[in-house]
Amino acid sequence: MTTQRFLTGITTSGTPHLGNYVGSIRPAVRHSLRRGVESFYFLADYHALIKIDEPARIQRSTLEIAASWLAAGLDPERVVFYRQSDVPEIPELTWYLTCVLGKGVLNRAHAYKAAVDKNTAAGNDPDADVSAGLFMYPVLMGADILLFNAHKVPVGRDQVQHIEMARDMAHSFNHRYGEHFVAPEAAIEDHVATLPGLDGRKMSKSYDNTIPMFAPRAQLQKLIAGIVTDSKGPDEPKSVDGSALFQIYQAFASTDETEALRQAYARGISWGDAKHIVFERIDQEIAPMRAAYQALIDNPAKIEAILKIGATKARAIATPFMGQLRHAVGLRNLQTQSDNTAKAVKVALPVFKQYRESDGQFYFKLQSADGRLLLQSGAFASPKVAGQTIAALQSDGIAALSRSPAPLHIGPDVLENDIATALQALQETKQN
Ligand code: TRP
Repeated sequence: MTTQRFLTGITTSGTPHLGNYVGSIRPAVRHSLRRGVESFYFLADYHALIKIDEPARIQRSTLEIAASWLAAGLDPERVVFYRQSDVPEIPELTWYLTCVLGKGVLNRAHAYKAAVDKNTAAGNDPDADVSAGLFMYPVLMGADILLFNAHKVPVGRDQVQHIEMARDMAHSFNHRYGEHFVAPEAAIEDHVATLPGLDGRKMSKSYDNTIPMFAPRAQLQKLIAGIVTDSKGPDEPKSVDGSALFQIYQAFASTDETEALRQAYARGISWGDAKHIVFERIDQEIAPMRAAYQALIDNPAKIEAILKIGATKARAIATPFMGQLRHAVGLRNLQTQSDNTAKAVKVALPVFKQYRESDGQFYFKLQSADGRLLLQSGAFASPKVAGQTIAALQSDGIAALSRSPAPLHIGPDVLENDIATALQALQETKQN
């Protein structure tokens, strides 16, 4: 198996908090250290423009998020760490994808639908205050992913629909223009905790209940002292179930440490003492990074340089790939046009191969132009029937699959859509 390529974006619309750290930064940094993976992390500042129209906030958030990831141990030598707006191929690809994606798919996007439902409920125009940017959000995200042919996209559950749309765009484009894109998959991080915030609800900027990742020590202590608890007094046994404080502790502490706090709860530790333990444990993990963070924030030129190197690495992939895509859609140098068409058609065709096995039976397979196994037949008793089955697939396409007298197996990692595309390519050359 080839190296798995992971890619994820972070919208630059806020200051990282402990929920971001536990839910995305820490697992991503750990993951990027694994062998056999290639990681792409980028600051999604084009996406931020959809939500924020304060330039200074965008700039500040970009700085803070970059500094946080680096301080948390992301190694820009091992991963490709870049800023979306440094890669002009992303908006270019966004347009190509815009042209192959059905508008109806975007109408069904959760975020857009929620805005429309809210307007409708309030008796407003359905699209009131909905920017075209919000509507197009999933296409920009699709371009982020497909430009680098990422296999896996680590995201929260709320983003899964966007990954499905990216798959849809990949298929639609491949169907029209040949196999250019890998269909990405969401990698949902179910094992990482979602951290509760100060009020016990999920820690989120929209609830205003966050603890900034790099709050200074004194502020961190104050914020932790403000986490909701019940009104049980000192010496009264306390329940860990539903205790936000306990859950936050658990996200930082070892199993043994967690068990010790559980017992302390049962023995009736006071909330003040429990909060002190939680504060010290979090600070123990964050303090070393806090110094690195501050040094980076004080040296934006260094971050800028790191991001520029990242953009160079990203564009070393994106620029030639975009050239290929531009050619594929027909945006071509006029001089070279005729040559390339002839070549492109020849190179791109899949083939059927018919053969006899040592069991005396007859088989065939369909291979993509680059030799990938798309379809493997079971045994046919006669070469004639095998040949007729191939002919039916060539003339009727995917519809003929179910009519085959022998079983037909789809190749590993192949989608039915890949087969449809291959058969259609054969059909089209037959007609010409
Ligand atoms: N939409 C993602 C979020 O809000 C951020 C994002 C933008 C992203 N482009 C991406 C995530 C590409 C993964 C891949 O969390």
